[in-house]
Amino acid sequence: MSKSKQVLVTGGAGYIGSHTVVSLVNANYKPIILDDFSNSNPQVIEGIQDILQESITYYRGDCRDWDLVSSIFNEHQFDGVIHFAASKAVGESVEQPLRYYGNNLDSLMVMLRAVEQFKVPNLVFSSSCTVYGQPDHLPVTEETERKPAASPYGNTKKISEDIIFDVVGSAANLKAVSLRYFNPIGAHPSAKIGELPLGTPNNLIPFVTQTAAGIRDVLTVFGDDYNTPDGTCIRDYIHVMDLSDAHVRSLTYLEEQSESSYYEVFNLGTGKGTSVMEVIKSFQEVAGVPLNYRVGPRRSGDIEQIFASVKKAEKALNWKALKTMKQALADTWKWQQAISKIP
Ligand code: NAD
Ligand code: UFG
Repeated sequence: MSKSKQVLVTGGAGYIGSHTVVSLVNANYKPIILDDFSNSNPQVIEGIQDILQESITYYRGDCRDWDLVSSIFNEHQFDGVIHFAASKAVGESVEQPLRYYGNNLDSLMVMLRAVEQFKVPNLVFSSSCTVYGQPDHLPVTEETERKPAASPYGNTKKISEDIIFDVVGSAANLKAVSLRYFNPIGAHPSAKIGELPLGTPNNLIPFVTQTAAGIRDVLTVFGDDYNTPDGTCIRDYIHVMDLSDAHVRSLTYLEEQSESSYYEVFNLGTGKGTSVMEVIKSFQEVAGVPLNYRVGPRRSGDIEQIFASVKKAEKALNWKALKTMKQALADTWKWQQAISKIP
């Protein structure tokens, strides 16, 4: 058997990173994790190892630490880097912009310096559909104009995309993609890894499952007076396992590009919009438990509706989201029960 290609996965103990590590190993890559556990914990590594039944190499540290990063690049000959590590809470970014610009941009810069210096050919970057703001036309394609960012977090994604574009354009030998995720949900079907929100969740699905598990009293639906069929906001929810597979496909895709410098962006979603009320209804069906919810006022900064055109990723990456919303909700519920130890 040919030797596995080594891939550095920054933020590999996080929600999307941990699932991607599983997908990478299943595709015969050798992922090496670098994570400072600022928004995750080392038990996640145990969960990954439990699923894979093999040990995973990981480094605990900050990807802004050049001495650490260069020692890791000296130790391993990487074929690629998947750069997940970032701070991701939108509200927090408004309160602590310097922390967000500092972490998200500095960690990217260190990674770019490392891939250049150590001649690593491929980079996959975690971007977000937040770069589109509220689009004028739906679904959004990769050509849809990016709007001024609504938060420092969103701005870090926009600026990061521009930085990567410039670095690739400077004739560096680097092939890169920015993946614009829509709304990742779900967990590994084994329920050994999943999303671990710290404190009160901001996102809909963890709030739904925590409410159903009795950890929260009531889910507030943020507004039902939007211009959508049932008045609640619409998003494109994608199963994290589908998203993880897209990272593996992206790496393979980059390896296949014959040019030495290359840059592309891809939307990663399902192409289907689902409203908050539809999520609640599906969850109750899947979990077989009633959900205590009430309709409250709109949340400031929310966009009314967004969903992806995924034609570009389907064609170029030969990838498609395969799992349904119900599968994602069932997997999240199983995960919630595993972590809250509900019989
Ligand atoms: P996460 O917080 O679960 O994972 C990020 C991981 O990076 C964590 O384990 C954290 O400890 C680590 N980390 C953060 N800063 C670090 C640093 N300087 N050095 C080393 N490790 C560091 O987040 P996630 O949901 O898995 O998101 C992964 C990426 O995808 C992020 O870049 C995020 O902005 C992006 N993204 C996420 C979503 C989403 O809804 N989850 C949507 C769009 C884009
Ligand atoms: N919602 C509720 N009640 C809640 C939580 C959310 O009704 O308790 C609603 C929101 O108003 C929104 C929908 O559920 O209409 C989805 O909200 P999320 O917070 O789960 O997701 P967002 O689309 O607002 O934000 C997510 C990520 C951001 C990222 C953005 C675009 O959390 O980091 O997608 O990528 F910037």
